[in-house]
Amino acid sequence: MRLHGRWGTATMARPIPPSVPEVVCRSPAMRATWRKLERIAHFDLPVLLCGETGVGKDVAARTLHLRSARRHEPFVAVNCAAIARGVAESELFGHVRGAYTGAERTRGGAFVRAGGGTLLLDEIAELPLELQAKLLRVLENGTFVPVGSDVEVVHRARVVAATCRDLPRLVAEGRFREDLYHRLSVVVVRIPALRERREDIGPLLDAFGAEAARRLGRPVHVTASARVAAERHAWPGNVRALKNAVLRAAALNDGLVDGDVLLAEPAPAPSSAPGACDVIVVPRGTYREMQAHLLRHVVAEHGSIRRAAAALAVPRSTLAEWLKRADTPSRRTTGAGPCTGSLDAAGA
Ligand SMILES: Nc1ncnc2c1ncn2[C@@H]1O[C@H](COP(=O)(O)OP(=O)(O)O)[C@@H](O)[C@H]1O
Ligand SMILES: [Mg+2]
Repeated sequence: MRLHGRWGTATMARPIPPSVPEVVCRSPAMRATWRKLERIAHFDLPVLLCGETGVGKDVAARTLHLRSARRHEPFVAVNCAAIARGVAESELFGHVRGAYTGAERTRGGAFVRAGGGTLLLDEIAELPLELQAKLLRVLENGTFVPVGSDVEVVHRARVVAATCRDLPRLVAEGRFREDLYHRLSVVVVRIPALRERREDIGPLLDAFGAEAARRLGRPVHVTASARVAAERHAWPGNVRALKNAVLRAAALNDGLVDGDVLLAEPAPAPSSAPGACDVIVVPRGTYREMQAHLLRHVVAEHGSIRRAAAALAVPRSTLAEWLKRADTPSRRTTGAGPCTGSLDAAGA
């Protein structure tokens, strides 16, 4: 049975007609990206937004929504990395009263809240495999079944997915369903990292300086030295890190954002928790120390040497050997580190 209405037009408040947020888009790379977004916004095609953490995937999803005919309907974002496993299905599809212990009331999930608007499934790579199967069915059928119910509900939301992970790689490793990947990625939009579009850094400094002035209630001045420093910096945390650095510098230095304060407190390294992006920050050291750090990081991230070796596309025995050498005290006289050559050969 299909039910239109009771779930599909649930009680969400209508948002005030929204305006497109101020998006800095000066560099050729971002201009091309935004042209693509605006071109596809009107079509109901699934869109997959890719890019490192902090590049502006949320901003891109909102732009897609606000440039579409759905802009007067809700925009709902769900962070798949942040929802607890036990309640993930209910978060997406809702549940009926008595569906499980503690479910005292019927509750609509994200698909209901999004109505005929846009549903952003952020950090989609972190969706558990069993839910990936359910999501695929929902996208294929255009209907879903709330937890504990036997009634199919029609959904009208446009689904936009975002990830900072290499989804094709996860598909190859069996960690993401290939059919769902194809379903979600009809149009793929990659948001470039900030270091690939340094022309945006100046205008972003101006925008964030103005925002800092508003938030701190005091004049804020971004100096020429801050501009030079920011343009040279790698910004592994991308636009989010730049924004936080400006706010922090303005607050700590009486509104004067200069190069030293801007980069004084390094932004914390992006975490390697699920959902974080594929940037690894390596503490400065000798070549060998940095290689050892990288190897340990990759193993920790993947939870075992076998999985880490698969991710690095080398035999397990090779990785085990590299780790063993990385852990033996260095002989300063030998020059290059023990991993040299083999690591390079693996392209790691
Ligand atoms: N092009 C841009 N212009 C202005 N602000 C931006 C831009 N891109 C990102 N931001 C800001 O940077 C922060 C991180 O952006 P977000 O979309 O959340 O990144 P992501 O989802 O890729 O991690 C947000 O505060 C956002 O408003
Ligand atoms: Mg995001």
